[in-house]
Amino acid sequence: MMIQETIVTTTGTDGYVHIAPMGIHIDGDDYIIMPFRPSTTLEHILASGHAVLNHTDDVRVFAGCLTGRRDWPLTDTTKVAGKRLQHSLSHQELELERIEDDQQRPKLHCKVVYQHMHQAFDGFNRAQFAVLEAAILVSRLSMLPWQKIDTELQYLKIGVDKCAGERELEAWEWLMQAVEQFKLEHSNKVDTQ
Ligand SMILES: Cc1cc2nc3c(=O)[nH]c(=O)nc-3n(C[C@H](O)[C@H](O)[C@H](O)COP(=O)(O)O)c2cc1C
Repeated sequence: MMIQETIVTTTGTDGYVHIAPMGIHIDGDDYIIMPFRPSTTLEHILASGHAVLNHTDDVRVFAGCLTGRRDWPLTDTTKVAGKRLQHSLSHQELELERIEDDQQRPKLHCKVVYQHMHQAFDGFNRAQFAVLEAAILVSRLSMLPWQKIDTELQYLKIGVDKCAGERELEAWEWLMQAVEQFKLEHSNKVDTQ
């Protein structure tokens, strides 16, 4: 079992396409999507019976989705009636097989029905890792102690300072703006922790 950080694209009954970063649990052929309720991704998958996993090294999509920038170019999928990111490295089209229900975080067990590689993977980059980790912190700002967020961001910034290209710097900037905004809005919490 491993967890792969992807961009999930799902389509609602009204045709609205939702784009959300999610960690997919992969156990052999079993792809498990685990959305926290309430979740648009969950609603869409339950209604349509499918989801699309987009694998991208453009970390702006991860940071963007968490900071209100969800307008990424999309294109039609091949086997399921959905959309995928136009500029992903590869994508996988999934059909829902069974649901393990849970009040907080249901498990949606899916199988891959189609996959395609669009571009080569150029290798690991520390700043991309740092942006992913910072994006997860930003998605949990109201749940985590401020001291932990501050310490982890200071560490992650090392990778950004040393290895970032333009896309990574832009993504980092969006996330740091969200952190600053949170600090302004929750100055009591931040000061006392
Ligand atoms: C790298 C990464 C992984 C994430 N994994 C999950 C996940 O497994 N489940 C989840 O509910 N949210 C996850 N999130 C947060 C969601 O992307 C975010 O809450 C999003 O708004 C969920 O959309 P939805 O609840 O409308 O489906 C993750 C965020 C990041 C940056």
